[in-house]
Amino acid sequence: MIKTTENVPSLSHRVKERFKTSFFVSDPLIVRSPGRVNLIGEHTDYNNGFVLPAAINKAIYMAVSHRSDDEIHLVSLDLDRQYTGSVNGIEPTTLHWPDYILGVVQQIQKLGHSVGGFNCVFGGDIPLGAGMSSSAALECATAFAMNQLFGLGLDPMTMVKLSQKAENVFVGVQCGIMDQFASMFGRKNHVIRLDCQSLDYAYVPFDTAGIRIVLLDTNVKHSLASSEYNTRRRQCEAGVRLIQAHHPGVKSLRDASLEMLAAYVAPVDKLVNQRCEYVVEEISRLLAATKDLENGDMHAFGQKMFATHEGLSRKYEVSCEELDFLVEKVKDDPAVIGARMMGGGFGGCTINLVKEDATKP
Ligand code: GLA
Repeated sequence: MIKTTENVPSLSHRVKERFKTSFFVSDPLIVRSPGRVNLIGEHTDYNNGFVLPAAINKAIYMAVSHRSDDEIHLVSLDLDRQYTGSVNGIEPTTLHWPDYILGVVQQIQKLGHSVGGFNCVFGGDIPLGAGMSSSAALECATAFAMNQLFGLGLDPMTMVKLSQKAENVFVGVQCGIMDQFASMFGRKNHVIRLDCQSLDYAYVPFDTAGIRIVLLDTNVKHSLASSEYNTRRRQCEAGVRLIQAHHPGVKSLRDASLEMLAAYVAPVDKLVNQRCEYVVEEISRLLAATKDLENGDMHAFGQKMFATHEGLSRKYEVSCEELDFLVEKVKDDPAVIGARMMGGGFGGCTINLVKEDATKP
């Protein structure tokens, strides 16, 4: 969906070549796991709402082969770093980058599967920390590769869930399911409308004729990102608990209304109320935006993207100066149909729907 300046075949070739020089194996299993964009529905996944992501043509490429011992040998092509460990007693590392792989191996083991020693080289063209889910792509690549290599018989949804769990318990980010789901289930020229409560999903054709998705990277990643992410999640849960005292049937913000927030949350905690308001509004905004997409009303869809940004910036407070600047800059440009910050926030990219003519050099 997005033109890449990278020569993708050469990337998988480079991974393969590095594998040959590091492990003297010329026919490793090669796996490709894409990053994602999300058109609308931000911070709704862990609130059991809806999201509208799509896999993109930037990806992680991973090469793996069996070892005859219990060792794990990892090579990061992009960082030019190596790690050696064992499949027994897996623990988080101080290096951090191996954790996305090790966490997945540990989750597979926790499901009762046995994983033997393996060699692994990976590299990719998903910009790191840009909110395009390079970590989820790496986790899903690992799950997929392990499944193939050791014949585990895991279905795609199980691989999605265990990859998400690896990020939650091993990496320590309480992320929702969107990124891993989009990486595993993405389909060309389609966005996925995922109900994060039932996990029902539908592929919605995204007719890009005349419109391009353009990402603008702030090139910043503020250190607050993961701690504030976890705080937002706790604030949403606190809001749900306040409502539950009066409506025990409300299990998440998906079941909540603005009236419930005004009655039970606002009088107790203004900040929690502000966070929850954004989420409840975003869940219904996405449903309306999906209708716009079905009706081909891209103008209405784009206006909702701007409204999402406003909510993320003012009410949910996960934007930053650089993201606000990029959205503000394009707001009155007639070529820009819609724009907003994308992903967890505190840096990374804005996603813009731009009239194709205006994207030509
Ligand atoms: C990150 C998380 C996702 C989701 C988004 C915000 O990308 O990994 O689960 O919560 O932030 O929508």
